[in-house]
Amino acid sequence: MLMKYTMITGATGGLGYALAETLAKEGANLLLVARNRERLEQMSRQLPGSHQIFDCDLSNPESLSELKAFVTEKKLDAPAVLINCAGRGLFGRLDELDALEIQPVLNNNLLPVILPCQVFFQDMKRSGGVIINVMSTAALKGKAGESVYCAAKWGVRGFTESLREEAKGSSLRIVAVYPAGMATDFWQGTDVDYPVDTFMSAEDAALMIAGALGQAEKGYISDITLSR
Ligand SMILES: NC(=O)c1ccc[n+]([C@@H]2O[C@H](COP(=O)([O-])OP(=O)(O)OC[C@H]3O[C@@H](n4cnc5c(N)ncnc54)[C@H](OP(=O)(O)O)[C@@H]3O)[C@@H](O)[C@H]2O)c1
Repeated sequence: MLMKYTMITGATGGLGYALAETLAKEGANLLLVARNRERLEQMSRQLPGSHQIFDCDLSNPESLSELKAFVTEKKLDAPAVLINCAGRGLFGRLDELDALEIQPVLNNNLLPVILPCQVFFQDMKRSGGVIINVMSTAALKGKAGESVYCAAKWGVRGFTESLREEAKGSSLRIVAVYPAGMATDFWQGTDVDYPVDTFMSAEDAALMIAGALGQAEKGYISDITLSR
């Protein structure tokens, strides 16, 4: 029998790792994905249980073919739960941004959600399961100094809501997650003057997300906003 597992992208990051830790403690089998193999190896060693890792750039369609081949080779089939958490920020007023920084932000927020969904969507529609797309409160409201990041996350929201329509009639649930600020490495290297040390921890955010993932016979929580 094929193993049920949860795939987490952005697993080397603050929220991705906190979700991995929370779910591993609950006994989940995990496939952890991010670009940095060394960090994936180190982090998976810290988790209870034994987990698969795969390093790839999720903005590159070729990497997704390699990921699909890896999953097939390991006889894993499609994930029961796919958590798309990979992303990155870009802060500053539009006129202050370097034009060369814009495309990487679009690529590293939109494609790491769209491409894994494209790979697994049909199989997950057949088998049922959950796709969780982590966005941001920046996908709910425009913010000065975050225009490009907001554009990318609004794009993910449009994609998520459309996918939900495409999943109708199946037992695949599509869950949208909109976190407010979390105190993670996401903010490293930015020169925003936000009070990052007052933000919620990734561990608390992960607990709230995991806690909302249950399902009633005829209903589920489709949208989760983590406010602070
Ligand atoms: N922190 C916040 O305040 C905040 C608030 C709202 C929403 N969010 C969103 O929540 C998510 C997680 O944020 P975080 O705070 O955990 O950020 P983080 O600590 O910076 O982690 C980001 C993760 O994304 C991975 N990643 C980025 N681009 C990738 C790509 N092209 N391919 C594969 N992996 C990629 C990074 O891993 P590698 O570098 O190893 O590839 C890392 O694991 C992001 O989508 C972020 O936009 C964050």
